[in-house]
Amino acid sequence: MNVSEPSVTVSLASEKADRSYPIYIDKDLLSNAQLLGSLLGERSVCLVTNDTLSELYLDRVRAVLGADRKVSVVILPDGEQYKTLTAYDQVLTAALEEKHERSTVFIALGGGVVGDITGFAAATFLRGADFIQMPTTLLAQVDSSVGGKTGINHAMGKNLIGAFHQPIAVVCDTATLETLGDREFSAGVAEVIKYGLIADKDFFRFLIDNAVRLKNRDPEVLAYTIARCCEIKADVVSRDEREGGIRAILNLGHTFGHAIEKEQGFGQWLHGEAVAAGMVMATKISVARGSISSDVLDDLLLFLQCFDLPCEPPTSMTVEVFLSAMQGDKKVQSGRIRYILLSSLGDAAVVGDVSESEIAACL
Ligand code: NAD
Ligand code: GLY
Repeated sequence: MNVSEPSVTVSLASEKADRSYPIYIDKDLLSNAQLLGSLLGERSVCLVTNDTLSELYLDRVRAVLGADRKVSVVILPDGEQYKTLTAYDQVLTAALEEKHERSTVFIALGGGVVGDITGFAAATFLRGADFIQMPTTLLAQVDSSVGGKTGINHAMGKNLIGAFHQPIAVVCDTATLETLGDREFSAGVAEVIKYGLIADKDFFRFLIDNAVRLKNRDPEVLAYTIARCCEIKADVVSRDEREGGIRAILNLGHTFGHAIEKEQGFGQWLHGEAVAAGMVMATKISVARGSISSDVLDDLLLFLQCFDLPCEPPTSMTVEVFLSAMQGDKKVQSGRIRYILLSSLGDAAVVGDVSESEIAACL
């Protein structure tokens, strides 16, 4: 492939520096030595992955990095429950013990968990090192690898410790999805349909019409879907890198979803599953407010059911449980919980006045 032509570019030019970066999307990119060589030059690498991915893809990536390069490998335990200070410390300790310098490039080979931990380690290693995202789940390819949100969970809540730190490139090898389990694939689909709801009604319709082909991982539908999601995310992040405004709409369903993840115990509900249930709640409130028609909700429910995604929170999640858990959300301002609701199909806004009875009505 022509390595000078990324599929999508995240534009982050400012007066001080151009921190724009490419997203490469294609099959078999993990084996593309030319691409990796062009991104890394002769720089050392600290490659972070987990004990599932290391069995599947580590040898392949290790081979394209070349025998002459200094490469350290950190293998984390697999799972959201390990997205902790301990795992973050494991990465930093390995990089320090192996005497990496600020010029080292961290590589995150894995899903959103590995990507978020590695990015945060890179953000803070010697006050900031570069990193490359190599996302291997659908969720990471369409969402978490793009945009520079990095971090770890705390017992008090989801992603409460972290930093904005943009990767220098995203290398998205779509062939890695061939080994991804159905449950993990579906979790990514929840973030996919989110983009249609908040930013592109034609894409929403495309997804509704092509749900079965997407479920069957039809290569044409999948390639278009990943590229379109990255385009939308790149556009939003380019306009609002640090979530001062418009970027918050990417969190549709997440205020409720993060509460579900925390209350059920990290790792019990996959992030995408919790977002699916949270997105249904936000859509129901949007319908009740008259912002969108109930047909959109019906289409969304059928779509999520096609992927065996949950359309309701667990019954243990009462209004009181939700409100208590959501008080710890990062979006809380002056003690007020903020929600993302749909203003129309393809458009969303931050809202601070959702009442207890509105939440109760969508449980
Ligand atoms: P994950 O990273 O836990 O991966 C899911 C499972 O799939 C894991 O068991 C993993 O080992 C396995 N796996 C990954 N790739 C595989 C492959 N190709 N073949 C076989 N198995 C594979 O979960 P995820 O859904 O990728 O990411 C969820 C995380 O992403 C959450 O922590 C969430 O908070 C975070 N997130 C971050 C952002 C952001 O902007 N930074 C956005 C959305 C979500
Ligand atoms: N996943 C939300 C964001 O990147 O802003």
